[in-house]
Amino acid sequence: MNEFSLNAKLFFGPRAVEHLGSLSCSHVLVVTDGFLQESGMVGKMCQHLPSGARVSVYSNVKPDPSQELVDEGVEMIFRERPDLVIAFGGGSCIDATKAILYFASQKGMERPYFLAIPTTAGTGSEVTNFAVITRGSTKVALIDDALAPDGALLDASFTRSVPPQITADTGMDVLTHALEAYVSNQATTFTDALAVKALRIVFEDLPLVFRDGDAMRARGRMAEASCVAGIAFTNAGLGINHSLAHALGGRFHVAHGRLNAILLPYVMRFHMAESAYREPYERLAHELGMSGADELLQRVIDLRSRLGIQDCLADLGSIDASCFEEHVCDMAEAAANDRCTPTNPRPVSRQDLVNLYRDAYRG
Ligand SMILES: NC(=O)c1ccc[n+]([C@@H]2O[C@H](COP(=O)([O-])OP(=O)(O)OC[C@H]3O[C@@H](n4cnc5c(N)ncnc54)[C@H](O)[C@@H]3O)[C@@H](O)[C@H]2O)c1
Ligand SMILES: [Zn+2]
Repeated sequence: MNEFSLNAKLFFGPRAVEHLGSLSCSHVLVVTDGFLQESGMVGKMCQHLPSGARVSVYSNVKPDPSQELVDEGVEMIFRERPDLVIAFGGGSCIDATKAILYFASQKGMERPYFLAIPTTAGTGSEVTNFAVITRGSTKVALIDDALAPDGALLDASFTRSVPPQITADTGMDVLTHALEAYVSNQATTFTDALAVKALRIVFEDLPLVFRDGDAMRARGRMAEASCVAGIAFTNAGLGINHSLAHALGGRFHVAHGRLNAILLPYVMRFHMAESAYREPYERLAHELGMSGADELLQRVIDLRSRLGIQDCLADLGSIDASCFEEHVCDMAEAAANDRCTPTNPRPVSRQDLVNLYRDAYRG
């Protein structure tokens, strides 16, 4: 039996932010990061909350949120006892909020209403039952329906200030979510339809928003594509591209979307080398109006290079070759045990994962 569900209610389109005024709340806690707080974006968003509501802000979130940060957030939420929690930021802020609420509920706190407002077009975390937390040097993917926000508010104006490099990285994360959901061994007609739509938007609009961050129609479409891809993968799961990226990101702290973008062609080639696993790529290419899987692969590589993203991990310049080699077997082990691996279309051995890492390092 298959299942398809969407836990969050969506608020989107022009003036979506006005939805905030209709929320019933007396004490709001906003979970965000230092940049969004200092840039005035948090204040701008809060102007739309009902007048009279008390607002507290926790702005300590850092990229790739750690378990320690989550524990600090749990203590704080028990002190504050808000009746509305807003996660405002990229995937890191939304994931941190999910984990804070999850662990606070486990400790007996009654769950407040949880609204997620993404400020990047990337993770789709506003609608997923995933949260990625860093424990030591390991990124752990938590997967549980209890993590999903109750509401997701998409207002592309909050993504306007995202600089080109982060636009590129987060946009390639959307592409990776949609591709992995489409070829996943849990894909269904419903998740395929969403993945194809997200991919069409990414191929068309990501180069536009990369070149011109003020292209607001394209920004709006990318915000929707991110959410649509999130709905696809929360139902179909992801695959080893994400498993490999999680293990690498935990050790070498490179942006999640960039790691996905670098790894993707290597993972696609690995799958496409066997006809049974090549088949979904062929089908997907035809749905996208391309001649076949080889053209799809080439289009991914071309897009990546138009966005100024490196072809291999060595070219990042921040991952030393001997350090990489020292960690490669541990990373392959972590990737094999990652919660995204069971939905990968092709079964993988530890050695396959080591080989993929080495290929992606050298190019
Ligand atoms: N939960 C999920 O379903 C899911 C899926 C994929 C990835 N993730 C996780 O999400 C995290 C990555 O999230 P992300 O890619 O959104 O990046 P991020 O949240 O780490 O943010 C990256 C940077 O962008 C900045 N930023 C955010 N919004 C901005 C704006 N409007 N203007 C200018 N700068 C802005 C942030 O301050 C930060 O410095 C990783 O930890 C990844 O593992 C989660
Ligand atoms: Zn991702």
